[in-house]
Amino acid sequence: MPDRTLSVAPMMGCTDRHFRYLLRLMSPHAMLYTEMVTTGALTHGQADNFLAHHADEPVGLQVGGSDPEQLALSAKLCEQAGYQEINLNVGCPSDRVQTGGIGACLMATPALVATCFQAMQARVSIPVTIKSRIGIDDLDSYTHFSDFIGTLYTAGCRIFIVHARKAILSGLSPKDNREIPPLKYDYVYQIQKEFPEADFILNGGIKTTDHALAGLSKLPGVMLGRAIYQNPFLLGELESSIYTTAQPDKDAIIRRYRDYMASQLSQGTRLKYMTRHLLGLYLGQPGARAYRRFLSENMFAETAGIDVFDKACGYISSHHNERATLC
Ligand SMILES: Cc1cc2nc3c(=O)[nH]c(=O)nc-3n(C[C@H](O)[C@H](O)[C@H](O)COP(=O)(O)O)c2cc1C
Repeated sequence: MPDRTLSVAPMMGCTDRHFRYLLRLMSPHAMLYTEMVTTGALTHGQADNFLAHHADEPVGLQVGGSDPEQLALSAKLCEQAGYQEINLNVGCPSDRVQTGGIGACLMATPALVATCFQAMQARVSIPVTIKSRIGIDDLDSYTHFSDFIGTLYTAGCRIFIVHARKAILSGLSPKDNREIPPLKYDYVYQIQKEFPEADFILNGGIKTTDHALAGLSKLPGVMLGRAIYQNPFLLGELESSIYTTAQPDKDAIIRRYRDYMASQLSQGTRLKYMTRHLLGLYLGQPGARAYRRFLSENMFAETAGIDVFDKACGYISSHHNERATLC
């Protein structure tokens, strides 16, 4: 059973296999998730491409869909590919996924979500989990949330990840839908009391270690998204606070990710796919702006090699040296 005390949220355009490799260097324990993959992409397209991942377990694949048979087939493919969990997306508010009848709009049809869950869980022995909001539009009372969870609980679901704000399905962009509707952690604390046999993982707006630890004093797990993407080292800090391990050595992690990039480059992966996750790496440090500018101006070239990253890092170390000489 994967440990879900600490997890990193599925994020389109962010939690690809390269970023997850970096995260795994920060934290051996954290549960990681893929970007959302639709059932269409898994069952009609280049499944191997979407299913590819490192042997850096535990990692769960997040799937988007609403057809029970397609979801069951997708779940089977994930299990065969070695994932530890399949997570069903019932929280994404984007217009595009709504048109496909997937994501947060499914919160209006709990019976369909329950059918999807059962079809998936019947096909695999790894856990199927649900990631939802606390409500959508006017269906935002605690009673509605509790009925939604209750329907899935009766269907057998025991692990819920809850982004603790509702989604507004028309008129708000996905980005605004992550900021504007207020966070209501009390819904999640309450639902855990109501369903003590299930695990509820708190997501939404967690930005610091103290904040995460406060969530963990009430719930079995916390999931962080944007705060980790902006500062991946936060995951290392969380790992060492939660599992009382030594703080990770930042330079050693960067060296190991550099080795990883060099080996991926030799296999034909373009530099930009790996360095795009590193733009904020030195945020707040002297030289960070020059590092970022150099990297973003040079990493897109077709022939960009590891020297681009090395030169960018030179802006940070030359600042170090400058300061060392001054002191
Ligand atoms: C760039 C971006 C992409 C996202 N993509 C997904 C996604 O594919 N599936 C999903 O369930 N949530 C997605 N989310 C939402 C996050 O998983 C998370 O629920 C949300 O950001 C709130 O957590 P946070 O405040 O810790 O960032 C995305 C968020 C961001 C910022």
